[in-house]
Amino acid sequence: MFLWGKKSRIVITCAKGVPPFLKQEILSVGFPALSAGMAEVETEGTMEDTQRLNLLIRTGQRVLYLLESFSARTPEDLYKRVSRISWEDYIPEDSYFSVTSSVHNPTIKDSRFANVKCKDAIVDRIKEKRGRRPDTGPERDEIVVHLYWKGNICQVFLDTSGEPLSRRGYRMIPLKAPMQETLASAVVLATGWTGDGNLINPMCGSGTLAIEAALIALDRAPGLLRSNFGFMHLKGFDESSWKVLRRKTRAEAKDRLNGRIIATDISQQAVEAAKKNAMTAGVDRFIEFGVCDFSETPVPTNGGVVVLNPEYGERMGEIEKLKETYKEMGDFFKKKCLGYKGYIFTGNLDLAKKVGLRTNRRITFFNGPIECRLLEYDLYEGSRKGEMS
Ligand SMILES: C[S@@+](CC[C@H](N)C(=O)[O-])C[C@H]1O[C@@H](n2cnc3c(N)ncnc32)[C@H](O)[C@@H]1O
Repeated sequence: MFLWGKKSRIVITCAKGVPPFLKQEILSVGFPALSAGMAEVETEGTMEDTQRLNLLIRTGQRVLYLLESFSARTPEDLYKRVSRISWEDYIPEDSYFSVTSSVHNPTIKDSRFANVKCKDAIVDRIKEKRGRRPDTGPERDEIVVHLYWKGNICQVFLDTSGEPLSRRGYRMIPLKAPMQETLASAVVLATGWTGDGNLINPMCGSGTLAIEAALIALDRAPGLLRSNFGFMHLKGFDESSWKVLRRKTRAEAKDRLNGRIIATDISQQAVEAAKKNAMTAGVDRFIEFGVCDFSETPVPTNGGVVVLNPEYGERMGEIEKLKETYKEMGDFFKKKCLGYKGYIFTGNLDLAKKVGLRTNRRITFFNGPIECRLLEYDLYEGSRKGEMS
């Protein structure tokens, strides 16, 4: 099938703040990074390449393969241009597909209208060519077509991921305020930790940071945890070569860590959930779990990274009580974590001031709509000089 070997632009979307880390990942798996936007990085490759990207990329949300770009002013233009695409070569007539979109066009008040126009054009074309039509609906667990329409510029993509890549499939028990898997992965990559030294994660909640850290240190491709991607439902998908790619990727993973990963939480329920999630991800034997106050977390003396994602009073927790907690986190860093690099991921910079240590770096991320910072602290011997007065 010509589609699978045809090179096109590929846009990988991500959360705002993540592009520098996604770009690095794209380069490290051997693809070019053509440009980076606020919430996406563009590369290029064939449909076959999208399988590798879906399998390997940790920080991206969706791998979009560009089918066609054209100019369209009105919904009628859109219908006409979309019906010229040979959908019958891509979408089986007995399958199911959904349309998602990102629309900024003055003639469209509700993006769902653009989705319907696009869907109608696809269905009508396949019915005309094949005599039968696929089903459609909102579920994204089979074929997904993505429409990007800004001004007159219209781009039609195949969303080769289907369900977003953040749904790794291991987080059966998410608990309160969990961090998205793709964001947690970007946070670990931002700390520079790749498995040398220890990674200590007090306040681990459902364990996302510790689990993503283990996957990174073991070189385990996150896509190995999933059995369903959008590309699998397209015409011409070659299951046997996909299996070979999975097997080869699995064989390249490591089976031991150099450092230790320690994850604790004050909530017994959180630690139970984190253990189950780690088990589903196949990394439970690489993470040492414990129930305790963050300040009691064991911190081995040979250094590494300590990363905390405390509550920040947006969705849970009381600000006044949290002020004390943030101050105590600073004390914990100073007293127990010398020789480490300390990180706090928070959406509340006022609370962060209570930590009382000078930040070395502040990296902006977005947790959903909330602008957050990953604050870095050098906790080397003598770093008390960096204490704020
Ligand atoms: C924002 S959640 C962490 C979410 C986590 N990153 C995830 O992906 O699930 C904060 C966690 O801190 C824990 N916590 C709050 N106060 C604590 C304390 N004093 N010591 C240890 N853990 C605490 C809560 O039980 C909660 O699980």
